Amino acid sequence: MAADADNPIVYLNGEFLPLDQARIPVMDRGFLFGDGVYEVIPVYDRHPFRIADHLRRLGQSLNGIRLPNPLPEADWLSLIETLINRSPWPDLGVYIHITRGPGPRDHAFPNRIRPTVFMMPLALPAPAPALIEHGVSAITAPDTRWQRCDLKTTSLLANVLLRQLSVDAGCAETILLREGWLTEGSASSVFLVRDGILLTPPESHQMLPGITYEVVLELARAENHPLEIRPLPEAEMRSADEIWITSSTKEILAVTRLDNQIIGSGRPGPVYTRMLAAYQTYKRRVMRGAAS
Ligand code: PDD
Repeated sequence: MAADADNPIVYLNGEFLPLDQARIPVMDRGFLFGDGVYEVIPVYDRHPFRIADHLRRLGQSLNGIRLPNPLPEADWLSLIETLINRSPWPDLGVYIHITRGPGPRDHAFPNRIRPTVFMMPLALPAPAPALIEHGVSAITAPDTRWQRCDLKTTSLLANVLLRQLSVDAGCAETILLREGWLTEGSASSVFLVRDGILLTPPESHQMLPGITYEVVLELARAENHPLEIRPLPEAEMRSADEIWITSSTKEILAVTRLDNQIIGSGRPGPVYTRMLAAYQTYKRRVMRGAAS
């Protein structure tokens, strides 16, 4: 079957088929309750980036919602490889979505669980050069999400509403504050730079353990860059020299305006430029098959 960008091949419950033929029952608990988890694995030139970390986090999310992993790791790897090979784009995000499957509409788990397993390729355009060169604007908002933001669940209503606030304000992201402390973005992790020191909050139930976050920390450690992982109060963010947002789809972007206030010089800073170069080098190694 030819790969078609408007109707790519997806995976649903054991079968590869065109997206427009994929169907789930309306009684699926993913539809009724948002009872499921997901992952987005970036793939460059058909080479998956940090796939082992993404599958580990998928396992943690499943564990956190008490849903047994429906497939062994070897099966995940082989299904993902097939999806990548059949993708219309060489650069893509592999979107994985697992729900607790169909059942009567009862909040409690059904007696017999038949999870729904869905995967699709997402187009993954590289961040626009203008965004890298000039940075992006962001707003802040109180973090109204639940207390298990470490799980990548499909119940994303709070993230959806928070992200829309930034769209309404013509900005790229909403950065979240819980009782005056930085947590993360509506769909990204957040880093600060103050006096040359890279700062980010520690992993906790209040933020997703971002894979890009992990890569940035590894790259900073490899370069012996001064680094502090600690709770960050709002005031430290507002007076930071640099703010970055990171994710599998955005990679690393500098925030040069926060709530309409200029951050640092109003341009992406020197630590950002160095980190982006290190990240691009690492990405090229993945694309050559020299790293994963
Ligand atoms: N989101 N925090 C939140 C709330 C996120 O949704 C994401 C990513 C991140 C960054 O995680 P990673 O570096 O592993 O992509 C942090 C994905 C891309 C999404 O929902 O589409």
